[in-house]
Amino acid sequence: MNVLVTAGPTREPIDPVRFLSNRSSGKMGYELAAAFQHAGHTVLLVSGPTTLDVPDGVDFLPVETATEMQEAVSHHIGRMRIAVFAAAVADYTPAAKAAEKLKKSSDTLTLELVKTPDILGSARMAMGFTGTLVGFAAETEKLSAHARDKLVRKGCDLIVANDVSKPGIGFDSNFNEVTLVYPDHDAPMPRASKHDLAHQLVQAILELHHTLRQS
Ligand code: C5P
Repeated sequence: MNVLVTAGPTREPIDPVRFLSNRSSGKMGYELAAAFQHAGHTVLLVSGPTTLDVPDGVDFLPVETATEMQEAVSHHIGRMRIAVFAAAVADYTPAAKAAEKLKKSSDTLTLELVKTPDILGSARMAMGFTGTLVGFAAETEKLSAHARDKLVRKGCDLIVANDVSKPGIGFDSNFNEVTLVYPDHDAPMPRASKHDLAHQLVQAILELHHTLRQS
């Protein structure tokens, strides 16, 4: 099956040398791409900048900004059966990129930010994706309720939710502890390395795909 995975942070340019970004390492998405490939699937990894090696046998499309990621996803999602959005897309981007490096001429500097495109949220309606859609949610409270709300709003079949207030998991860590949030129930997964968790997630996503699409 054709599987799309988004991963990593995005970089939103302020001027030619500066950008807004976040602490995403991309590890979870890269491990998922590798695990789908290992399970015999054809994987396209659309990734923001990371220091990771592209997993063997995975097609790779590097991007920088949220807008570039959205363009890449909308171009390729039509032929995908499963799409997993593990990228930590910046929520806001500077309203304008300065053509020249900003000078530190005043004591304060105000940046105007505008919302980035919601890539996951546009997969169903705007991009017409009919396959199995999986999103991620990093929450600090009411994990399950917030994740289920996201699942419904964005038309997902599954949200992989993690509590980012817990120490030692999630962003920038090799470990993660997630709860699988389905429309009708939650399935907490034990803390595991992102490598092992990716294999368990791939099994869960494939099972879900077969249940929903009987293919
Ligand atoms: O709403 P929130 O940003 O918490 O949603 C997280 C999920 O949405 C992740 O799967 C992330 O990859 C995806 N996302 C996206 N485009 C955005 C923001 C988030 O695809 N602009």
